Amino acid sequence: MANNIVVIGTQWGDEGKGKIVDLLASRCAAVARFQGGHNAGHTLVLNGKKTVLHLIPSGILHETGMCYIGNGVVLSLEALEKEIEELADVVDVFSKLRISNTCALILPTHIALDNAREIQRGAKAIGTTGRGIGPAYEDKIARRAVKLSDCANSKILKEKITQLADYHNFLLENYYQQPTLSVEKIYQEVQDSYNRIKEIVTDVSVSLANINSNPDNSILFEGAQGAMLDIDHGTYPYVTSSNTAAASAATGTGLGPKDIDHVLGIAKAYTTRVGSGPFPTELFDDIGQKIATIGNEIGASTGRARRCGWFDVPVMRRAIMNSSVDSLCITKLDVLDTLQEVKICVAYDLHGTRLDIAPNNPDDFARCQPIYEIYEGWLSTTASVREYDELPEKARDYLLAIEELLGVKIDMISTSPDRNDTIILKDLITE
Ligand code: IMP
Repeated sequence: MANNIVVIGTQWGDEGKGKIVDLLASRCAAVARFQGGHNAGHTLVLNGKKTVLHLIPSGILHETGMCYIGNGVVLSLEALEKEIEELADVVDVFSKLRISNTCALILPTHIALDNAREIQRGAKAIGTTGRGIGPAYEDKIARRAVKLSDCANSKILKEKITQLADYHNFLLENYYQQPTLSVEKIYQEVQDSYNRIKEIVTDVSVSLANINSNPDNSILFEGAQGAMLDIDHGTYPYVTSSNTAAASAATGTGLGPKDIDHVLGIAKAYTTRVGSGPFPTELFDDIGQKIATIGNEIGASTGRARRCGWFDVPVMRRAIMNSSVDSLCITKLDVLDTLQEVKICVAYDLHGTRLDIAPNNPDDFARCQPIYEIYEGWLSTTASVREYDELPEKARDYLLAIEELLGVKIDMISTSPDRNDTIILKDLITE
């Protein structure tokens, strides 16, 4: 029996989704991205060789299966072409990738607006990736976006780009006092870029439905960012501009929610966050620094240092609730190998009240104090372990505690960035 699986991050992104999607993809007929854009940074390592993908689904390195960019993704044609070029000597992207004709485009003026808004926010800056993601989603929701399908008709494209970029330039000049951009240049670049990639633009919903009609086929839905960056359920306004929850896999591809069989939540064995916003278990001491160094916690998209903290059960509980998470994959367990003791935040204290689940009110969330349980460190290596029984007993105790606190099974454990260094407790594709 095939399975359609949604892979989502259950923290603030960077949980290691790319590696797991890459691992599962070899036996899937399709891998589809459904939200976000090139703000994502999915790192894959195979035989020591590292590939970082931002827009193209993490299944692209496999010979089998197709990759899709769904309608829920905001698309920078410039970023797309750059990534296709970077992958050119590894894979023929044109034969394996299809893009939804209904994707909303990210224009250079979206990027200028993203940066202008961050400058204006000053100390309250969100710490966006500066890729134009927020402004592009704003225009999509305001029904003035330029869609990929508009590019097929140069008259319509020119009209729509002129209207939108004129509006952006008005804001840049008059509201943000920032330089404007040439509308003609934007139009020409989008048109030229579209002409180079138009052969891979299609109706992705229909393509996925066709693949799904064969019961032997599995489809992987690859989430970007993480649960706490969800525009509705995350730490607003310090979030991204899309729904990162699993339901987005349906709206962001056009396949219905009943076609999802399993939601796999990916969580680091600790927590990280890049950008601003509250983070109750954040560590400001040597341990935080040690985790950052050993875990190489540097953003794959922006090169920014990630903030590090202990594993946060209240955050995980909200993610599991919001996304019907069926099972978990715990990543980067090996990063904790040298710690004398390891803490898990099991609940929060909010002005004397115990909270088991992260509150959805951002002001309350920012005031939550973590309540910790302390576990003995295992002080031996778990790096590259591929069998559960070979994990040190105390590492297994730590994993069991996570399972018990969350009431959700761990199906996979990742013990290094390499695709093959993964403990698989359950085969999700053929379960
Ligand atoms: P934006 O998505 O560029 O608008 O950024 C909004 C927030 O989401 C910022 O805090 C970013 O650091 C964060 N963010 C966006 N993409 C990622 C990601 O792939 N990993 C982790 N954080 C991300």
